[in-house]
Amino acid sequence: MTDSVNIDKAVRQHLEMEQFFGGFSVRGHADAGQLQEQEEAMPAVESDKELERLADQVEQCRRCELGSLRTNAVAGEGNSDARIMFVGEAPGGDEDLQGRPFVGRAGQLLDKIIAACGLKRSDVYIGNILKCRPPENRDPKVDEIAACLPYLQRQIELIEPEIIVALGAHAARTLLDTTKSIGQLRGQFHEYSAGLGRMPVKLMATYHPAYLLRSYSPENRRKVWDDMKKVLTELGLPIPERSKQ
Ligand code: URA
Repeated sequence: MTDSVNIDKAVRQHLEMEQFFGGFSVRGHADAGQLQEQEEAMPAVESDKELERLADQVEQCRRCELGSLRTNAVAGEGNSDARIMFVGEAPGGDEDLQGRPFVGRAGQLLDKIIAACGLKRSDVYIGNILKCRPPENRDPKVDEIAACLPYLQRQIELIEPEIIVALGAHAARTLLDTTKSIGQLRGQFHEYSAGLGRMPVKLMATYHPAYLLRSYSPENRRKVWDDMKKVLTELGLPIPERSKQ
């Protein structure tokens, strides 16, 4: 494909995505209280501190070879009281440079999906299975996942989200400990087992925004939106309606 065709395609996708995930509004008023957890096991200040400590550990981490290849570790970011926690696969090039999750093209699409839900990025928490970028954005290896997963498990314990949204096959399969395909897993609630003595956390699997950018079809966008509507309904949050222009 030539450069100009590539650019045309990217611009067209951007505009269509803007239309699809843009232009939603919530009827009436979203109660800010609804966006945060009502009850907390650990005071927010303490879980914030714990999350910071964890991020420091992640920055020092050399549990797998990715630790020596990264520019920056990407621990995760967001609201420590979040009701929704998004979990992706691993940082890409932009994330590695900035040390923040989902800040590249896939991140821009995730921002639009969050906004289409009537939420802000600061309402949710965003993390990844791997905290360091695999070279050339290759798939995470089993030993890398095994080394890194305890960080995410601890983040989930501290944040206690009501719903985890697993973005893509790697996140969904890892958190659900299954080999099923994302096509089989998406669209329905599963349970993430948070460990002995802990309540399981509801988990919705959906397509990764990067997949959505690659396999760009109204059907796939509709499926992601359907999955997110189920999440909003489960949380008792209003489903924004497309404004009539
Ligand atoms: N893709 C991911 O899975 N995570 C990121 O943080 C960015 C892109």
